[in-house]
Amino acid sequence: MPSILRALILGDVIGQPGCRALFFGLKKLIKTTKSDFVVVNGENAADGYGLTPELAEGLFQSGVDVITSGNHIWQKKEIYPLLESENRILRPENYPNGVPGKGHCILEKSGAKIAVLNLEGRVYLSNIRCPFRVGREITTRLQNTTNIIILDFHAEWPEEKEALAIYLDGRISVLAGTHTHVQTADERILAGGTGYITDIGMSGPAESVIGMKIETAVKRGLTQMPLKLEVEDKPVEISGIVVEIDKSTGNALSLKRIREKSAI
Ligand SMILES: [Fe+2]
Repeated sequence: MPSILRALILGDVIGQPGCRALFFGLKKLIKTTKSDFVVVNGENAADGYGLTPELAEGLFQSGVDVITSGNHIWQKKEIYPLLESENRILRPENYPNGVPGKGHCILEKSGAKIAVLNLEGRVYLSNIRCPFRVGREITTRLQNTTNIIILDFHAEWPEEKEALAIYLDGRISVLAGTHTHVQTADERILAGGTGYITDIGMSGPAESVIGMKIETAVKRGLTQMPLKLEVEDKPVEISGIVVEIDKSTGNALSLKRIREKSAI
């Protein structure tokens, strides 16, 4: 019987409703899923755009081990010092050098060394460094320390996500796609042992447009005006995956989607 690490990876936490749901319900979810390690994407935690030190602290207090992010992470300037000093908060690794923060960390938990890496896609997003080349280079370095590597690939385009997973297959334990806020049903274990899902979805208001107010989103569609989307205040669904990882090989043994209605 292999020794197993169970990683709970949750999608983009959306505003106050998403944060409330995790502050209130994450400890119970960790128990029911028997998870050893928790990764949450926090780039939309502060009113839909960015993350604040207070919310980061609240997520850590609720049982989160690492907060990953994406293109919105620099929206609230008060997070910048923490991006530099807090090992457990990540921004995509493949932004230009000198941008506040770092894109990977290694933690020890449940008798294992666990690396978490954050990358961002380039299709319909910024023209940053190549996630394929940076992913290859960083995972090669991380493998000197551990073969348990969790990747949050924050990207828009399924082709880019699937291609990167296959490119890194066997080098990482799991590629969990984020950014679209819509959970996909294509989860599987690739030939080399890497778990994959195009998008794990969001932890935010279920009755919404990607977590945001329906009325404004529809108006944007109808008028094409650059109206600012605001977080919808409705009951939350917590979305993500639970991955079982073989501690000795770093391979994913199973990958299960979760979509839990929050009790608040
Ligand atoms: Fe997001």
